[in-house]
Amino acid sequence: MDKSSLIYPMFVKEGKGIEEEIPSMEGQFRYSVDRLPYELERLQKAGVSSVMFFGIPDHKDEVGSGAYDENGIVQKALREAKRLFPDMYYITDVCMCEYTSHGHCGVLCGHDVENDATLELLAKTALTHVQAGADMVAPSDMMDGRVMAIRKCLDKNGFKEVPIMSYAVKYASAFYGPFRDAAGSAPSFGDRRSYQMDFHNSREGIKEALLDVEEGADIVMVKPALSYLDMVTKIAQAVHVPVAAYSVSGEYAMVKAAAKMGWIDEARIICEMAAGTYRAGAQIYLTYFAKELAQYMEEGRIG
Ligand code: PBG
Repeated sequence: MDKSSLIYPMFVKEGKGIEEEIPSMEGQFRYSVDRLPYELERLQKAGVSSVMFFGIPDHKDEVGSGAYDENGIVQKALREAKRLFPDMYYITDVCMCEYTSHGHCGVLCGHDVENDATLELLAKTALTHVQAGADMVAPSDMMDGRVMAIRKCLDKNGFKEVPIMSYAVKYASAFYGPFRDAAGSAPSFGDRRSYQMDFHNSREGIKEALLDVEEGADIVMVKPALSYLDMVTKIAQAVHVPVAAYSVSGEYAMVKAAAKMGWIDEARIICEMAAGTYRAGAQIYLTYFAKELAQYMEEGRIG
């Protein structure tokens, strides 16, 4: 376990002077671009050098155009962050759900998400992120074929060296509840079960990971982490690229809530969850507890 393997997910929002706490994720904030540097500085001091940006736009529309606007919120945040902290490593979540008026991860045809029509928009989103300074892109939409679409688009535009971390094994999970609050991205009808995976199924996860590697993924992710550690182990055995695990918003919220009640020892639980995830085979850990973990590693409580 090492600080360099931690990735801290962050929410960036349109506006000025905003640093607002997310009610369902105590201790996590939405930042406007001008407030973002203060948190980046705190992260850098703590030894966390990789962040992943999620955008919260002011306007949403049917086709999620804010996602691939070169002056979109993530693109603006990247340019500013890169200018002030060029040594940090910037990853972006590539998805449409924060930008579509209906909250689904792709464009719709009737009430169905149109897989193939969405691919082009995801590729465009990834390209604008990289042009704005992203070091790596992380598609989380779960459309089939999106890793290849993004790879081709980045290659064609001269970004052959920019890696893709695919949310390859992403389950349709209730653990994303607090995130959808934080990002305002809950679907306005239906659910995500036509594109995210059924959590009863483990073989499909292996298939998804292998497909993504074949399409060009440089890292594959399992998400959520805690209830899916068997999948982390299975994927680590099945692929020859690094495996990342994402301890998601619901996991964070449960720990925070129980700790607030005085029912658990927060620091020990954070360490145990992290150690379990690495023990299962993850080499990269995305967590809202990144700063705390970096501190615990520094103190030798975990390592
Ligand atoms: C976007 C996305 C989600 C998360 C990461 N990227 C939400 C979802 O799929 O509904 C969840 C992260 C978390 O819960 O911490 N599709």
